[in-house]
Formats: sequence, C-alpha cells, structure tokens
Amino acid sequence: MEIIVKDTVEEMSKAAARMVARAINAKPNAVLGLATGSTPLGLYQELVRMHKEEGLDFGQVTTFNLDEYVGLPNKHPQSYHYFMHENLFKHVNIPKQNIHIPSGTTDNYEAFCAWYERRIVECGGIDLQILGIGGDGHIAFNEPTSSLGSRTRIKTLARQTIDDNARFFDTPEEVPIYAITMGVGTILEARKIILLANGKSKAGAIIAAIEGPVTSQITASALQLHRDVMYILEREAASELAMLDYYQWIQEKMPDAP
Ligand code: PGA
Repeated sequence: MEIIVKDTVEEMSKAAARMVARAINAKPNAVLGLATGSTPLGLYQELVRMHKEEGLDFGQVTTFNLDEYVGLPNKHPQSYHYFMHENLFKHVNIPKQNIHIPSGTTDNYEAFCAWYERRIVECGGIDLQILGIGGDGHIAFNEPTSSLGSRTRIKTLARQTIDDNARFFDTPEEVPIYAITMGVGTILEARKIILLANGKSKAGAIIAAIEGPVTSQITASALQLHRDVMYILEREAASELAMLDYYQWIQEKMPDAP
C-alpha cells in the first residue's frame, strides 16, 4: 500500500491524472475502472485537459464504471451515465462501444450483473481502478456489511446515503433506494487501485480503511488485502492517520531503496 498526501484537491487530482495517463501511455488499450461523485471531478478535468493539450489518446481505452442508481433514466442529471458523459466522455476520443456503465434501467438485473462481470473478464480485466470513499467507508455502493467477496449486484442503499443524496433531487420520492454496483470482490480483482479522498469529512473513513481492521463494516478496509493500492489523499482527509509520519518517510526514502 502506498500513501501519498497532497496539500490541495487540485494537486491530488493532478497526481491521479498523471497515474492514469501513465497507464494509458504504457498500454494504449488499457481498461480503466471509473468512479463518480465529487472526488474524481478534478481528475476528469485534468484528463480532459491532457487530452486536448497534450494529446492523451483514449482511442483504444475501455472503461467500466463502478455503479449506477436503479430507476434513473440515463439522461437524468443525477444518473451516473449523465455524470460520466458530461464530465469526461463527451470531451475525449473514447469510442462509445468501449464505455460500460451498470444499467439502472434494465428489465433483468440478474442477467445484466452477470453480463457486466463477464464483460470485464472478456476485456482482459481492469488495469487501473479509480475509487472514492464514502463517509461510512464504502467503496462503490458497497455499504457497510457488504460481503468482501461480493460481485456486481443490486444493493439497497443505507439510510445515510439516501439522506445524503436527497439534496440533489426535487422530491424525496425521486431519491433512489437501490443501486447496481460492482462488488468488493470485483474491485479487488483490478490490477492496480487508486483511492482518492479529500476533506475533513473523509478523515474518519480513511483512518478506518487504512489503519483499522479488515471488516465489512468499512468496505474500503478490504483494500488492505490487495497487492497494489495507492491512496492519494488531500491533507485534511489524511489528517487523522496515526502513522502519517511513517508514510511520508517511506515516500522520501523509497526512491533510494535497493
Ligand atoms: P464523493 O462520494 O466523492 O461525492 O464524496 C464518494 C463516495 O460516496 O463513494
């Protein structure tokens, strides 16, 4: 596990974008796992800038998004289809057929979830997975007590998540109660994982995920079992880590390691 702390959200986003660009440059047909939410917004802005100004080429890239609300049409401004289109896909040269986002409108969720898992394998598996983290320590919509071996499936959202989301909807009836989400087990199969977090509100989840026990109460803690995870944290989100000095020491000393 590698932990990198940045002073600002902008620096966090740029560091993550450099990692994504490196993955694409090393393997032009890289398979990326993508996240939504406020955290990766700066990352997507930077990738769009790199595409426009530096020629970062998405022409052979394939993507799989983590999750989607059940019941929201793709064109709904709160759907993750809409989010991804507006914030990344419409600005870069990724072929439409290479984009995968869980469907929130399929009439057969079971079949769709099985297909999504199969499709990831058919595309060669996820090379680099981007994650955010919820205030309750969730990754994707794997709410507390989700099985750490879970696969893509329907999840009933926690009350807290529903309440947090309510501000984005006109009426309480519109707030989705279910989501379709990659499982913790699906995420753990990515070859490399980068988790981003910013803000004081994430500090508790970050300490639990990195320094606490592996537990389904904090699904991000399952990342402790993965061999190649990088946390890129803005300073406030990292502020409660007990071993912060050690992580910084590692960053200083690693370049000279034999
Ligand atoms: P946020 O959401 O980036 O909007 O904070 C992260 C999450 O809940 O996974």
